[in-house]
Amino acid sequence: MLRLPLLTTALFAAGLLAAEIALIPQPRQAVAHPEGKSFTLAWGCTVGGDARFAQEIQTLRATLFPATGIWLQRTDDAPDIRFDFDAMRPAEGYTLDVGEGAIRIAASDAAGAFYAIQTLRQLLPDAIYGQAPVRADWTIPAVAIEDAPRYAWRGILLDSARNFVPVESIKRQLDAMAAHKLNVLHWHLTDDQGWRIEIKKHPRLAQVGGARPCTPRPFARDEMDGEALPPQFYTQEEIRDLVAYAAARHITIVPEIEMPGHATAALRAYPELACAETPDLAPRWGVLREIFCAGDPKTYEVLHDVLDEVVALFPSPYIHVGGDEAPKERWNACPRCRAKMQALGCWSMNQLQTRFTEHFARWLAAKGRHLIGWDEILDGGLPEGAAVMSWRGVSGGIRAARAGRKVVMAPTPTCYLDYWQEVPDDPYEYISKESPNPIWRTYGFDPASGLPESAQPFVLGVQGNLWAEYVRAEEDREWKLWPRACAIAEIGWTPQPLRRWDDFRRRLAGAGLSRLRRMGVHAAPLPDGP
Ligand code: ACM
Ligand code: ZN
Repeated sequence: MLRLPLLTTALFAAGLLAAEIALIPQPRQAVAHPEGKSFTLAWGCTVGGDARFAQEIQTLRATLFPATGIWLQRTDDAPDIRFDFDAMRPAEGYTLDVGEGAIRIAASDAAGAFYAIQTLRQLLPDAIYGQAPVRADWTIPAVAIEDAPRYAWRGILLDSARNFVPVESIKRQLDAMAAHKLNVLHWHLTDDQGWRIEIKKHPRLAQVGGARPCTPRPFARDEMDGEALPPQFYTQEEIRDLVAYAAARHITIVPEIEMPGHATAALRAYPELACAETPDLAPRWGVLREIFCAGDPKTYEVLHDVLDEVVALFPSPYIHVGGDEAPKERWNACPRCRAKMQALGCWSMNQLQTRFTEHFARWLAAKGRHLIGWDEILDGGLPEGAAVMSWRGVSGGIRAARAGRKVVMAPTPTCYLDYWQEVPDDPYEYISKESPNPIWRTYGFDPASGLPESAQPFVLGVQGNLWAEYVRAEEDREWKLWPRACAIAEIGWTPQPLRRWDDFRRRLAGAGLSRLRRMGVHAAPLPDGP
C-alpha cells in the first residue's frame, strides 16, 4: 500500500506527490489516495469505453500482454479499466484515476488516452517493460493524476545522414520516445555525407548520394581511409511503414531536407546543381563548401520534385529545410547567384538565402505545410511564412518568437546530445569533449527563459539533437540519447515550476534508468554531478 506522500512544497500545493511514484516526465498533478484501493492486474480483467478510443484500448492490451501474459477482456459493460471521452481535457492531456479496484482514463483526444497508458505503465513494476512473461505483482497504486503537456513539440533529432540508422533501430527509438511522451522525431535525412531518402524522380540522389567511397575510422576523426559504403537509404515503402509506426505512437516524423548548404551528397549525384563548375565532392566530416546554386532554375526544379515526394510521404505539418551553415562564399563567386541576387533586389547573400527560403515556404504552403529551418534563415531577415529552430543559442528563437513566428528551441550545447556527457569511463567517441553537456546541464534548460510573456505562446517546444558523425551503432546511439532524452521529455512536458533537478535525478536514478534497461535500451549511467 502506498505510504502517505512525503513531499509537499509550495510548488506542489496543487497536488501531493508520493515518494514511491517515479514518473518521467513528471505529471502536472499526482495525488495518492491514501485510503484508496490499489488495482491488481489479473486474468479476467476487462477493458472498454468510448469507441473513439478503440485504437488506444487495443494499444493498452498489446502493451500489457508481453510481460504479464494477461490479455485484457474487451467489454463496454462496466469494464475494470474504462476510457472516457472528456471534451474538457486539453490536447494530449488526460486524467488517470486508479482506485476502488477500477481504473478510469479520460481524454479529449487519442494522444491523451495514449499518454495515460504510458503513465499507467510507469506505475507498474519495471518488469512491465520486458518482452517475455515474468511472474510479478502487477499492482498499480491508488492515485489520481491530471496531466497535460507544457509544449506541443517534444522532439529528438536523429541523424541518418552521417551514419545510416537501420529501420529496426529507429523503431526501437520510437518505442522509447513514446514511453516518455516525446512526440516529434526530426529526421535528418540529407547532408554533405549522405542522402538517405529514395526520390523516384531523381534516383541518383539516393543511389549515388547514399553511397560513400570512404569513411573515417572510429577515433581517427577526419582520416578518410575507412571502409567504402554501398548506397544506404530508406525506400519510400520503408518510410511509409516508419511514419505509420510512429503515428501509432503519436509521434510525428518531421523530415529534414537540407538546402542550400549541407548538400554535397546531393551534388555528388547531380554536380550540375552546384555553383562551382567542378565542385569539390570529396567525402569528409565537417561542413563542406559546396552548395546548391541559387541562381540556376534547375536547382528549384529538382528541389520542388524532392519536396513534392517528401510531402506525399510525410503527413507532418512542418517540413524542415535545414538552412544552417550554408557556404555562401560559393554564391558570392557564382555569376548566376550574383545575377539572381541583383534581380531580387538583395543587398547580401544572406538576403538571397532569405528569398530562397521564402520561395520554398510558398511552395510548401501551397501544399498546406509549414516550412521550418535552422536559425541562419533569419540572418538576411525573417523569411515570410517560416518557423525557426534555434540552435546557435536561443537568440534566434527569441527574435523570431518576438516577431510572432513559431519557434523550437534546440540550443547548443544544452540540447546537443552528441556532446560528451561527463560519464566516467565512457568508451564512446564524441564530437566535442570541450563543451560537456551532462544531463543536469540539459535538464536546466528552460525554453521560455529570456522571452517576454507576449512571445511565449510562439514557442512550439524543445528538441534534443543527436548528430551522428561519431555515432556508429545502436549501442553508442542509445548511450548518448538516454537518459538525456528523458530530460528533454520533461523540459517539454512538465510545467517549469514543478521541475527540480534533485527530484528528477531521484526519479531517474531509481525507476527511470531501470525502466530503460528493461526496455533493452543501452542507457548511460548518471554522471557525478551536483
Ligand atoms: C546545426 O547544428 N548545424 C544545426
Ligand atoms: Zn550559384
